[in-house]
Amino acid sequence: MELAICSRHQFPQLLGDAIIAALQQEGSVCLASGDTPQLAYRYVAAQYQRHPFPLRATLVGLDEWVGFGPQDEGSCQYAMHHDLYQHLSLRPGQLRQFDARRTGDALEEECHRMNQLLAEQPLRLVLVGIGQNGHLGLNEPGVAFSSLAHVSNLSETTVRVAQKYFPQSTTLCQGITLGIANILASEKIIAVANGAHKRDIIQRLLMTPPSETLPATSLKQHHNTQLLLDDAVFHVENIL
Ligand code: PGA
Repeated sequence: MELAICSRHQFPQLLGDAIIAALQQEGSVCLASGDTPQLAYRYVAAQYQRHPFPLRATLVGLDEWVGFGPQDEGSCQYAMHHDLYQHLSLRPGQLRQFDARRTGDALEEECHRMNQLLAEQPLRLVLVGIGQNGHLGLNEPGVAFSSLAHVSNLSETTVRVAQKYFPQSTTLCQGITLGIANILASEKIIAVANGAHKRDIIQRLLMTPPSETLPATSLKQHHNTQLLLDDAVFHVENIL
C-alpha cells in the first residue's frame, strides 16, 4: 500500500485529476460516495463543464442503503448524482448500480447481477473511502475478505455516522455493497481519508496486519493500492 499525503487544499484536485484520467479510459471504474471525495467530484464536474473530455469508462456504484434509491436525499446514489453524474453526459447503460429498493430474494438477485457484471467487465479502478470503523463500502467489521457483493447488517458506528448524509434522523439497518473480493480484484485502488476525525482509524489501519476485524486492512493484500490522505489526518512529521 503506497501512502500519499497532501494538503487539504490539494486533495480535491489531486484526486479529481486521477478520476478524470480514469474516466477517459475504457473499462469499469467504481466510485464511492461520501464526504471524503465530494470536493473532488465537484472539481471533476467543473472541469468537464469547462472542457468536456471523452467519457469512455463504465461507472459502477459501490454501495447503497437498503430501501433507498437515487431520489432519496441521503442515499449514496443521490449524492453521486448530485455531485457528479448529473453534470456528465453519460450514455444510457454507462452507469451500473444496485437497486437497493428491492426486497428479499430480489436483493440477492441484485448482488448476483453485480457479480456477473464484474466478472464480465473487471474493475480497472476503485475509489473507496475509509469509514470511521474501518469499513470499505458497506463491508462492515468481521466481513470475510473473500466476500462478493452482498447485503450487510450495518454496524452501530455506520448508522450513527451516516445520519450526516440525511436531512432528518433516518433508520438504517442494512446496506448492499460490492464485497472485499470485488474491490481487491480491481487493477488499481485509491483509498481516501481526510480530516482530523479519520486520524484514529488511519493509525489503526497502518498498524494492523490484514485482519477481517478491520476491513480496510484488506487493502494491504492488494499490489496496487494508494492510500491518499490529507495532512489533517497525518502530519508528515508524525510519520517520518
Ligand atoms: P465519508 O464516508 O467519506 O463520509 O467519511 C466514508 C465511509 O464511511 O465509507
